[in-house]
Amino acid sequence: MNKIIKYLLFSVGALFLLLVLTGFGIGLYLNSTFLSFEEEAENIEIKELTLDSLNYLDRNGNGKLDPYEDDRNPLLDRVEDLLNQMTLEEKIHLLKGSGMSSALRMGKTAIPGAVGTLAPTPRLGIPSLYLSDGPAGLRISPNREDEDRTFYCTAFPIGTLISSTWNTELVYQIGTAMGKEALEYGIDVILGPGANIHRHPLCGRNFEYYSEDPLLTGLTGAAMVNGIESQGVGTSVKHFVANNQETERNFNDVIISDRAMREIYLKGFEIIVKESQPWAIMSSYNKVNGRYVAESKDLLTDILRDEWGFKGLVMTDWFGGDQPASMISAGNDLLEPGTKIQWDALIEASENGLLTEEKINTSVRRILSIILQSKKMENYAFTNNPNLEKHAKISRKSATEGMVLLKNNGTLPIQKSLNVALLGVTSFEFIGGGTGSGDVNEAYTVSLEEGLMNAGFELNTLSKRLFEIHKESNKKQFIKPDGLSAVLNPYFPPRITYTKEELQEIVASSDIGIITIGRNSGEGGDRVKKDDFLLSDKEKNNIEQVCSAFHAADKKVIVVLNIGGVIETASWKEKPDAILLAWQGGQEGGNSVVDILSGKVNPSGKLPMTFPVNLEDHASNANFPLEGGMMDLTKFLFPSKDEKPENDKIKNKDFTNYDEGIYVGYRHFDKSELEVSFSFGYGLSYTEFSLSDLTLSLENHRLKLGVTVTNEGSVSGKEVVQVYSSKPDTSIDRPVQELRSFAKTQSLNPDESVKIKIEIPLSQLSYWSEETSKWVLEKGMYIIKVGNSSRDTFLTEQFEINEE
Ligand code: BGC
Repeated sequence: MNKIIKYLLFSVGALFLLLVLTGFGIGLYLNSTFLSFEEEAENIEIKELTLDSLNYLDRNGNGKLDPYEDDRNPLLDRVEDLLNQMTLEEKIHLLKGSGMSSALRMGKTAIPGAVGTLAPTPRLGIPSLYLSDGPAGLRISPNREDEDRTFYCTAFPIGTLISSTWNTELVYQIGTAMGKEALEYGIDVILGPGANIHRHPLCGRNFEYYSEDPLLTGLTGAAMVNGIESQGVGTSVKHFVANNQETERNFNDVIISDRAMREIYLKGFEIIVKESQPWAIMSSYNKVNGRYVAESKDLLTDILRDEWGFKGLVMTDWFGGDQPASMISAGNDLLEPGTKIQWDALIEASENGLLTEEKINTSVRRILSIILQSKKMENYAFTNNPNLEKHAKISRKSATEGMVLLKNNGTLPIQKSLNVALLGVTSFEFIGGGTGSGDVNEAYTVSLEEGLMNAGFELNTLSKRLFEIHKESNKKQFIKPDGLSAVLNPYFPPRITYTKEELQEIVASSDIGIITIGRNSGEGGDRVKKDDFLLSDKEKNNIEQVCSAFHAADKKVIVVLNIGGVIETASWKEKPDAILLAWQGGQEGGNSVVDILSGKVNPSGKLPMTFPVNLEDHASNANFPLEGGMMDLTKFLFPSKDEKPENDKIKNKDFTNYDEGIYVGYRHFDKSELEVSFSFGYGLSYTEFSLSDLTLSLENHRLKLGVTVTNEGSVSGKEVVQVYSSKPDTSIDRPVQELRSFAKTQSLNPDESVKIKIEIPLSQLSYWSEETSKWVLEKGMYIIKVGNSSRDTFLTEQFEINEE
């Protein structure tokens, strides 16, 4: 007993100390980095920079600063004109944001919740621009100190759901709505989309990213950028590059081959740059082969700009990188959110010649180009009233299109006359999106329960009552954490279990059961295997017992997966009658699920990643931080300048070996001939499609394909045509097949056919040669395989390339 009391006292004491230290640490950190605006203005000694001029637009869009205007001249001339008028100090001032506080501030004029700015130069009529997260919608604060109205934003579906639509036109529409919303709230750049590759299922931020495949990532990302930027709002595509784990994300050194870098991790960004030329790219926190990305000239200048032709600016991730002058010299033009320490370091470096004025000018030119393109230069009077109703409809429609039907033995769609028993906590506490900076402050999230009621379903009252009792007796755990604590402790209320008797009563009083399995994660932490990738014992028992109780009465069970990342499905997928992968569908999630369950919409989503049988089947599993947990806050708060001795470095924390090289996702599962639970590209429909009449020709270094898609079933629906290439006679080590293109049909009526035409530049079939540091197109025979999943490619054609 004594021991227990001692232990408790010790734990409480230790916890207290930790809190004090963390609080102190955060305080110290904030003091050294987040300057108040007044301090900021004083510190940089640009006296014109007064409170009013930083935020020269008030909340109603009334301008107080006369923006520099000379639109008779081309953009580049205007940039030069401004540059010529700027003092060196003013230029350096532009290289860093004006601190997090200036954007976050709840004062009269700033936009609360925006996380950064591009600093203004009022003397020359250069306004400040506001930066705000992304990528599932705009992230600003819903409340403002002295206003009695709210500023909610639309929670669109998470990135992973968006890529599951395989519909780039729809992605463009989502982007347009997001861009318009940003514009109307006075935000100039959205910090998104996220284009990192799903290297391992446990990365806590996978939900913000698109896919394990770079082509799907790149085309989805480019459509998003084009949509957002069509509204005169910029994007900052993140996190460039190889930021595939949250554990030690700020310091982790990715040890990787050039080939894996080029073919897998850079490829998606390359496509985005070439197809959409975004305003900005956000460099990632991590190092690559020993060097911080933010300080890598190789990545930020040689590859990004010289090879790919990127014209925009590169900004750091928040407080990312190490040496300010090295960052600017490497081509990382803007340090966000900007700190006093960085200001001092830049001034010093420019004085001692470490940072030349030529380098400064290069970055300032890029920053000015972005500012001059922004709507702030037009004095755009933003309304603070985006059309949230219209955007909610787009959110609902897109969420429906990205949900993936994994299994259906004829149970779905269901009739509205049925009495539905909702089981599991998440059916009532639906999850709209992940946590951290990828979260959105939306006005509401429609739960599955509400979605069913909205559609006129009758809900079983007993299962609802049991949930309410469960919630009442676990009150505290049902309080949603806010702010930093939401990042550190993702909301995860305790699971519910049912007694045999309760289940029997539920079965007797209902027609069908729906179990929802929920998962959530976010920035700063990776997921774990136990009770996260794997179902918990409670969840497994629930599925087991609910299915046998309902099946004994000849009634069906549907499982809805309300998750942001991949979970294990192989051990239990046989049990329920249908499985719908609903992902996290944003604020209209529950309505979208019911649109599919009721048959109002025919599912057409396809998996953008593989669902493996075992976590260990992933090649990257050998080198991933499997113990999960959070990023090391102490190390983030008190970074040590001294490099750890090699021997002290901890694998998967200080460094991560990407030993699997290019064998990520299906590239690995196919090569190793592993059975998977659900394959990349897989997804069912309520109708059947046939693909036929594949034609293939080679003209002007382009492959031209034609394929006929016919709806053979009895309801209308959309199908995704997927094109893979193989090189059986290859002289190098290559994946068995790789996605080369895809196209989604419009909705086809029963018996309707459409001829899909696809063009693929031959260069896309190249591999990265480490010997020559070049893309090489091997000569010889290639096979083109067309189908509707990576493991279901039933049409093939081949062709020959005569010369390398
Ligand atoms: C995240 C970024 C985000 C930034 C600003 C960082 O911690 O990694 O994705 O855009 O914060 O909120």
